[in-house]
Amino acid sequence: MMKIKAGSQQHKEFFCRQFIETYQDYDPETLPWPELDAESLDRLRAVPFWQEVYHTERRAGAIVNAFLPHVTDPVVREAIALQGVEETRHANLIRVMIERYGIDAAAQPMEAFPEDLETAFIDFGFGECLDAFLGFGAFKTARQSEFLPPSMFDIFDVLMFEETRHIVFFINYMAWREKQRGHFAVTRNLKSAWFYGRAASRLFGMVRRGQDANDGKDFAVTQANFFLDGFSFGQFVEDCYRENARRMRAFDPDLLQPRLLPSVAGLALRGFRLWDRRRQQTQAAA
Ligand SMILES: [Fe+2]
Ligand SMILES: [Fe+2]
Repeated sequence: MMKIKAGSQQHKEFFCRQFIETYQDYDPETLPWPELDAESLDRLRAVPFWQEVYHTERRAGAIVNAFLPHVTDPVVREAIALQGVEETRHANLIRVMIERYGIDAAAQPMEAFPEDLETAFIDFGFGECLDAFLGFGAFKTARQSEFLPPSMFDIFDVLMFEETRHIVFFINYMAWREKQRGHFAVTRNLKSAWFYGRAASRLFGMVRRGQDANDGKDFAVTQANFFLDGFSFGQFVEDCYRENARRMRAFDPDLLQPRLLPSVAGLALRGFRLWDRRRQQTQAAA
């Protein structure tokens, strides 16, 4: 297959068209929401982060839609408009779930965005890349633990697919944008690392706030066993890495894909395996 030059006009047309053509139409209200038994309902309601998820999706829609009028290129704008529609629909999907299953979570006031909306959009984009990568692993763990009926995970899988499309679009958008500005690969990579650093520190801040909010107890006592029985950090990284690769296979190989996190994870996995082998050798020798 012909390789498209990243950052070219052709590349721009290609990644925007790909994004627009893979749009799926659905209404969160009419999705096949399952009836949950009392036990599953308790589990769903005990998840402590629905409020945060709801806010994150509302915020995503607000940022994308605020940035939209500043996008001058017509095809890029068409794609970003669609992302705005999808993020707003994610927020609706979470709201429908909250109402349907009586989850204790409400809409939070929306923070003001910085004047530089493009930087806000870029910060948000790298944040999505980080969230999606960790989310791939978490989603697999949750699904395997049969924490909720499979039909519920099928609904969330639609959302995961759209998030994967968003990050693929974003990585291509960044490559095109940087090329327009004449930035070189080294600058681009340094810049990504810097933005990932900001995304990671926001995520840690959120986790810390979450722990303070419920003292880290509620969830730990009632629910964590589902996830944490036999939890291993190495396994989690492996799940993120593999799920990322599996989900990325759904995309045209001519599109750029997020590379930094998978390669850091791949490196860590090689380290874990080496360490494991050493430990086994030491144990065998003892
Ligand atoms: Fe979203
Ligand atoms: Fe998204």
